[in-house]
Amino acid sequence: MRNKLKFLRVVGARPQFMQTVPLRKELLKRGHEEILVHTGQHYDDNMSKLFFKQLGLPTADINLQVGSGTHGSQTGQMLSKLDDLISKMKPDALTVDGDTNSTLAGALAGAKLQVPVVHIEAGLRSRDRRMPEEINRIVADHVSSMLCAPTKNAVENLAAEGIKDKVFFTGDLMYDCFLEYAEKANRKILSSLDLTEKHYILSTIHRAENTSDLYTLKDILKALNSLDKKVILPLHPRTKACLARGNMDYIKKFPNIAFIDPIGYLEILALLMNAAVVMTDSGGLQREAYFAQVPSIILRSSTEWVEQIESGWSILSGNSYDQITTAYCNFLVDKLKYHNIYGEGNAALKIVDAMETCLQ
Ligand code: UD1
Repeated sequence: MRNKLKFLRVVGARPQFMQTVPLRKELLKRGHEEILVHTGQHYDDNMSKLFFKQLGLPTADINLQVGSGTHGSQTGQMLSKLDDLISKMKPDALTVDGDTNSTLAGALAGAKLQVPVVHIEAGLRSRDRRMPEEINRIVADHVSSMLCAPTKNAVENLAAEGIKDKVFFTGDLMYDCFLEYAEKANRKILSSLDLTEKHYILSTIHRAENTSDLYTLKDILKALNSLDKKVILPLHPRTKACLARGNMDYIKKFPNIAFIDPIGYLEILALLMNAAVVMTDSGGLQREAYFAQVPSIILRSSTEWVEQIESGWSILSGNSYDQITTAYCNFLVDKLKYHNIYGEGNAALKIVDAMETCLQ
């Protein structure tokens, strides 16, 4: 008979709340236990509570309430609190996903206490070590005991770094999530923003490389403001803070951009599925655009999701005014095929199968 396993799941940022849903469902279905730990990295109601509510997730069992801080202090606080928690809860394994500071803290805490760590969304590389996320994912991959890779390229990246044992190509949990929630997308947001299907652009900007200095951010906004379609931009708190430092009336300065507060998953799905183009620096939104078969321009010079560029559905633009406007004008999406580069939408099932094989 299968042993019941006890998992400690460490989450802290929006995409991790989403990915919890299909995984948790599969674990509970098979009689396993999951203790949900929220580090508190995302703490605003519309970055956290709203997601839990829309996704039907129970309140986290434990909230570490770490909040904002420098990378070192945020990660350090999480690490210290997780240390105590893991010693007390004695889980059979820890699950972490992606590349956030919460991922890094969870992976390090588990590995130091010799609790097996399962890294979901493992093996992604931008090859740009200036990105905090690149450091987080490299460390998490190298200290984890099981690696679940969302793409074939991610499996190859791990092999190139000598990680070949207990690596599983599972597909992307975000795709499982998309398939479950796409039909529940809240289309009311279209009328509330006075939008017509396929006549607007959805954009998000939050990466450090685009929001650390006002000059870069202003250049991106200037480019978005010059496009021939209205741009909807849910404003991440980091981006808002950067604009606030510039003390500028950005709403007046960029009239083609509708700046709105961060929105829930069901609203972003509706905006995404009906957009003409998505222009983003987010790894999550980029993939979701692909799932919805909406072309996307990645406002970066590298991406971890290379298959999507090869497919033709996405291009990398860089982040200057000239690069973005040129990419937009030259981006041709015609008769493209959709391939399951992110798996079959059964990543949760494959991850739990792999965990049962390795951990029992
Ligand atoms: C983090 C991840 C990124 C992921 C993203 C998902 C790291 C290093 N980065 O980026 O990989 O794509 O989450 O959204 O972990 N803030 C608030 N309220 C909140 C959350 C953040 O005001 O609820 C502000 C804080 O001032 C904070 C800043 O936003 O300093 C940045 O937040 P942080 O969680 O550090 O990184 P993200 O940019 O969200």
